[in-house]
Amino acid sequence: MKIGVLGTGGVGETIGSKLVSVGHEVRMGSRTPDSEKAKNWAASAGPRASYGTFADAASFAEVLFNCTAGAASLAALEMAGRQNLAGKVLIDLSNPLDFSRGMPPTLTVCNDDSVGEQIQRAYPDLRVVKALNTVTAPVMVNPGLVPGDHVLFVAGNDRGAKARVSEWLVAWFGWTPGRLLDLGDITGARGMEMYLPLWIRMMQQSVGHPFFNIQVLKGAPPRRS
Ligand SMILES: NC(=O)c1ccc[n+]([C@@H]2O[C@H](COP(=O)([O-])OP(=O)(O)OC[C@H]3O[C@@H](n4cnc5c(N)ncnc54)[C@H](OP(=O)(O)O)[C@@H]3O)[C@@H](O)[C@H]2O)c1
Repeated sequence: MKIGVLGTGGVGETIGSKLVSVGHEVRMGSRTPDSEKAKNWAASAGPRASYGTFADAASFAEVLFNCTAGAASLAALEMAGRQNLAGKVLIDLSNPLDFSRGMPPTLTVCNDDSVGEQIQRAYPDLRVVKALNTVTAPVMVNPGLVPGDHVLFVAGNDRGAKARVSEWLVAWFGWTPGRLLDLGDITGARGMEMYLPLWIRMMQQSVGHPFFNIQVLKGAPPRRS
């Protein structure tokens, strides 16, 4: 499959490299056509990897991953070009983190909105599926780095797109179907993004590194007597 990875940071590199390793053609997109990071990534990832602008990656792709900074994702997608996005599935793994006041970051959008929703509103015919944003990049593509039946959330308006993304998460990245928790429509992205302050706090104060995730254990509701 032809896949566009929008973003040249560590997440774009990790996702892009994994996708190339399982046989896909991947084009990494950036604000500029000659990003050093994208060029270096393509050189190391091999012949199925290429790079260009956000628009180059979006026009090339059948499916897109949004690996841009959450606060800049709308700007990045505008550069990608509406005509290059129409009708495609976009897996949004961004988080709306604002580091301008240092650590811990604050959220640029929260409570009654999210980046996932902002993107879906701006591009109604883009099939946005929020996923992967709640784990560190190496765990996204290798869930076995964390032991146990830890989970990944998915949210999106288009049921068909969500089903396909769920299949891809299993086939490409090694998640198991029983560990994908469907949070419903794209408003589910709110909770997924607002989890980040808790994730960062756990990482800093209790776990001490980013290789962790959450497991959801179901009990039986107590019977009323
Ligand atoms: N780090 C993790 O393990 C992790 C885990 C879960 C989710 N996430 C989320 O994944 C996303 C990517 O994270 P990252 O650390 O790899 O990269 P990042 O530094 O958050 O984002 C880098 C990308 O954002 C683009 N960008 C920055 N400012 C922009 C602007 N004003 N207009 C348009 N594009 C702009 C950059 O474009 P250029 O290429 O032109 O520089 C670059 O491609 C983030 O939303 C992050 O919160 C990260």
